Amino acid sequence: MGGESYKIWGSALVALTVAFGIGVAINQVTHTDHLDIKAYVVDVPDGGAETAAVVEEKVLEPITPLLASADIAAGEKAFKRCGTCHTVDKGGANKVGPNLYNVVGAAKGHEPSFAYSDALMSIDAPWDYENLNAFLVKPKDYAPGTKMNFAGISKPQDRANVIAYLRQFGDNPPPMPGQ
Ligand code: HEC
Repeated sequence: MGGESYKIWGSALVALTVAFGIGVAINQVTHTDHLDIKAYVVDVPDGGAETAAVVEEKVLEPITPLLASADIAAGEKAFKRCGTCHTVDKGGANKVGPNLYNVVGAAKGHEPSFAYSDALMSIDAPWDYENLNAFLVKPKDYAPGTKMNFAGISKPQDRANVIAYLRQFGDNPPPMPGQ
């Protein structure tokens, strides 16, 4: 698991703890006579329980085991969706999004000529395989406020294929797992 996964687990735990804490507090104030039963009902105002549920969904299976069996040709096909906004070739132009040559393994905002969002730049973690995985499943969850207007790729193997394809476009990409 990468550092991000721990952070995500951490936030999920915090959210659940807070939600449960509020629920218990409310029960203690209003239902002290039924506390033994009511303590299990997490009845939270302000959408707290909803937040906890959404955060929980974000816990991702690691992508590295799937990279070993990635289909690069399928990744190239899937990248067509990204190609509306991104070029991948060395020295390629920025479009709506930055050129992606050398992005795998790089720091956030690897293309100096592109104006990135603060949302993305404030995340202090490199684009290793697991962070790319977490971003590509749902960019707006990974970096709330990102300029990347893309819903995400829900199938893990599709993400692995795209990442394996992207990895080829770099001078010194990190090794593929298992190679
Ligand atoms: C609608 C346009 C659009 C589409 C489609 C799109 N992107 Fe992006 N992408 C962007 C923009 C804009 C940014 C900059 C995000 C920011 O600054 O918040 C970005 C940023 C990125 C970054 C981070 C680059 C860096 O230098 O830190 C990666 C990696 C990336 N996109 C990969 C992909 C992949 C892979 C796909 C296809 C699965 C894709 N994008 C689809 C617009 C798009």
